[in-house]
Amino acid sequence: MKNDKIISMPCIDEARKKSSENKIVYSNIKISEETRSLNAGKKYLIKTFGCQANVRDSETLSGLLESANFSAASSEKDADVIIINTCAVRENAEDKVFGEIGNLKILSDKTKKKVFAICGCMVEEPDVVERIKKIFPHINLIMGTHEVPYLLDYVEELMTKDVSRIISVKSQSGDIVENLPSRRDENYKAFVNIMYGCNKFCTYCIVPYTRGRERSRLLKDILIECQELVDKGYQEITLLGQNVNAYGKDLKDGSTFANLLEEVAKLGIPRLRFTTSHPWDFSSSVIDVIAKYPNIMKAIHLPVQSGNDEILKKMGRRYTAENYKRLVDEMKSKIKDLTISTDIIVGFPAETYEQFLDTLKMVDYVKYDYAFTFIYSPRPGTPASKMEDNVSKEEKHRRFNELVERCEIYVNQSSDKMIGGIYSVLVDGRSKTNPEMLSGYTESNKMVHFKSKEDLTGKIVKVKIKESHVYFLSGDLVNG
Ligand code: SAH
Ligand code: SF4
Ligand code: F3S
Repeated sequence: MKNDKIISMPCIDEARKKSSENKIVYSNIKISEETRSLNAGKKYLIKTFGCQANVRDSETLSGLLESANFSAASSEKDADVIIINTCAVRENAEDKVFGEIGNLKILSDKTKKKVFAICGCMVEEPDVVERIKKIFPHINLIMGTHEVPYLLDYVEELMTKDVSRIISVKSQSGDIVENLPSRRDENYKAFVNIMYGCNKFCTYCIVPYTRGRERSRLLKDILIECQELVDKGYQEITLLGQNVNAYGKDLKDGSTFANLLEEVAKLGIPRLRFTTSHPWDFSSSVIDVIAKYPNIMKAIHLPVQSGNDEILKKMGRRYTAENYKRLVDEMKSKIKDLTISTDIIVGFPAETYEQFLDTLKMVDYVKYDYAFTFIYSPRPGTPASKMEDNVSKEEKHRRFNELVERCEIYVNQSSDKMIGGIYSVLVDGRSKTNPEMLSGYTESNKMVHFKSKEDLTGKIVKVKIKESHVYFLSGDLVNG
């Protein structure tokens, strides 16, 4: 298009680079009165796909826009800035996004300068950017995951200058930018990034290419953010990273995840969680800290991916089924009432039925309280996408169903055990399916519905569990 401004295009080779300097920048964004009055009355809307990393980025994007005087729109047609924050982890996630991008076309309005932006992990893929450029001319901002801090510069340029489209996707790991404004989605539970990126390069996974190398925030900056949340009365903090156990390794100041977790727990937040943990760096000292502090939730998400050693090796997971089981044994022996959830992939290239059966054996061994199950999806640029595969789609679906059925046995058992017991629930609000009911999560991360006239959103209440329905429980509010 005429007047396209290409600042940078994604590049897989750049994204593959192993090393990166950890640079921390303390931002001091000042918005001029002129910009604020220019934006007065303008509205924005953000649609978020993918994991908590994207949810947190969207909170920053909202915070930036609000600091420049934009306000939240109630519908797409009222919005002057529409942002789709995308996920690339599996193909079906991407298909959904392309549908959304197409729908935006009807909203474009030649008489008004609007910004239609696509950001997040998908635009880190060169093919995706080419496709958007060619097929979706109404998209005028394509911005990578490392460009979040610079959103306002792009928006202002598109709204005030004769620029038809900006593309800015730098594939090298970005700086850590502290002190950015953020508008949190909730006022009682919060995500706090402790690190960005991933160095593991599991052979099936696109995340290291879309998020760059592991970069840890300084302990002091994380503690300041958590203390502010405690002071505001937040009830729950979830520490975020693609692999939280690697926290501090890049800092070389002696910081470790065990130490960070302990320091945050000491701030006295009622509920402290973290996600995700890679089994490879899960240290005994982290287990000891979890066991020691009652406000650290006894619910660990420990992705296993497969129960077969050859597949784990082909996945580049760096542990064996035996290592994983010993880690689970240690956790269960040291942490009372621990619940464990996991991620499992079926149908990795050339996975045999016997290898798949080892995954079922792992499920039988650990008896996961919850499992996220996926059919392998080849991701462009990853080593696994070049591996030969001789397993049909039908067979992968059949194994997937068998896996889901097996997992449900244990999800059911773990929920059934709770019937009759009284549990604390952090209330999220009215149930989506029944407005008479409130819903929330127990410490062990089980969803609970219960009747209440009073809106108890954001409060921790006691509920006596009456029924279990596999993926949620129902019960009665216990007064007092
Ligand atoms: N950092 C996290 C995972 C992030 S992605 C961790 O390692 O635990 C979340 C989950 O998506 C992964 O655990 C994996 O089970 C699944 N996943 C990632 N890439 C996939 C692919 N190409 N196909 C299917 N599932 C995938
Ligand atoms: Fe992906 Fe593996 Fe990194 Fe998790 S640890 S984000 S699965 S490469
Ligand atoms: Fe998706 Fe990116 Fe998260 S690929 S899972 S949004 S890190």
